[in-house]
Amino acid sequence: MIRSIIHLINPYDPGSFPSDLAKKFGIKESEILQLGSNENPYPPSEKVKEAYFNSFSSINRYPTPFYHELKEAISSYCGVDVEQIAVGNGAGEILRHITEAVVDTMDPVVIPVPGYTLYGILAMLRDAIIHFEEIPGYDIQAEQILKKQSKLLFLCSPNNPTGNTIQKREIVKILKNYSGFVVMDEAYAEFADSSVVKLVDEFSNLIVVRSFSKFFGLAGLRIGYLVANTELVEGIEKIRYPFSISCVARNTAIAALDSLDYYLELKKQIIRERENLIKKLSKLPSLQVYPSEANFILVRVLSDKDVAAELEDQKIIVRNITGLMGLDGYHVRITVGTEEENGRLIEALEKIES
Ligand SMILES: Cc1ncc(COP(=O)(O)O)c(C=O)c1O
Repeated sequence: MIRSIIHLINPYDPGSFPSDLAKKFGIKESEILQLGSNENPYPPSEKVKEAYFNSFSSINRYPTPFYHELKEAISSYCGVDVEQIAVGNGAGEILRHITEAVVDTMDPVVIPVPGYTLYGILAMLRDAIIHFEEIPGYDIQAEQILKKQSKLLFLCSPNNPTGNTIQKREIVKILKNYSGFVVMDEAYAEFADSSVVKLVDEFSNLIVVRSFSKFFGLAGLRIGYLVANTELVEGIEKIRYPFSISCVARNTAIAALDSLDYYLELKKQIIRERENLIKKLSKLPSLQVYPSEANFILVRVLSDKDVAAELEDQKIIVRNITGLMGLDGYHVRITVGTEEENGRLIEALEKIES
């Protein structure tokens, strides 16, 4: 018999994938527009491509353990000590290890909603007592959060799916007065130029989680990291599966950090496109558009149309997040694509609207 909690867990919903639709319509995957997973739509830098192909010669070898080179590159990027960094197979794995290192059976865990659904799954796996704190629009105020002390609090900035950031002033107030650990999920932080990573020196209860999947466009390779106090870092390093980051992923992540200027240019394009897309979406009468500081936009559909399904009929994937805890009404989350991709999306939405 498997543990009964496993029966209670709703599986993580990754949404539709191009391969599903390609099969359904009998067309090529490349004909499907994927705007559902908050990926970076642009190609990798030349250095990343080179590192990727050069890794081929060592795939018969295990990656060197402990990932010193990768941590050194992250350390200069974030301006923190190497000893304050733990790495993992995506931010998802890092989040899992945090719950394993921190949460005992029946420990209270607080998850503001609407938020990223993985936090709840991971807390359930630890048999935690979970409190989902409803925060309309994810407008995090320290006063509200501090009334809900726990062993572990999950915050996300910019937040998935609302796209807004938490004010630094509020974060500092929380960190100063929170009894347990505070995870600050910064998977999208680069798009907002807002990070609390430097506060790790000041607050031993702060754990900043980062990803290479979004800004650095390496979602397919699976690399994430955390920055925290050295005791927690040592603990996480102990429980991480040996060699959990492949040599290909390690080498490309180092090369991505070495091509920062290239990714900063891409970011400018993504932000420009995001603002254009927000303007165009806002012109459609049936859509209520949330502001965003990330590479995706949350939209509420005010008509009774199943917009996500109708977009799929037009070979476009967005994420239908209707029913997500803390969100009322029909909502979709749309990844910011290239200018051409966003144009295709707007055309399809106009068709649905007419
Ligand atoms: C808020 C948030 N945290 C973490 C992750 C996981 O990122 P990774 O691809 O590094 O596992 C995601 C992925 O979408 C995310 O949206």
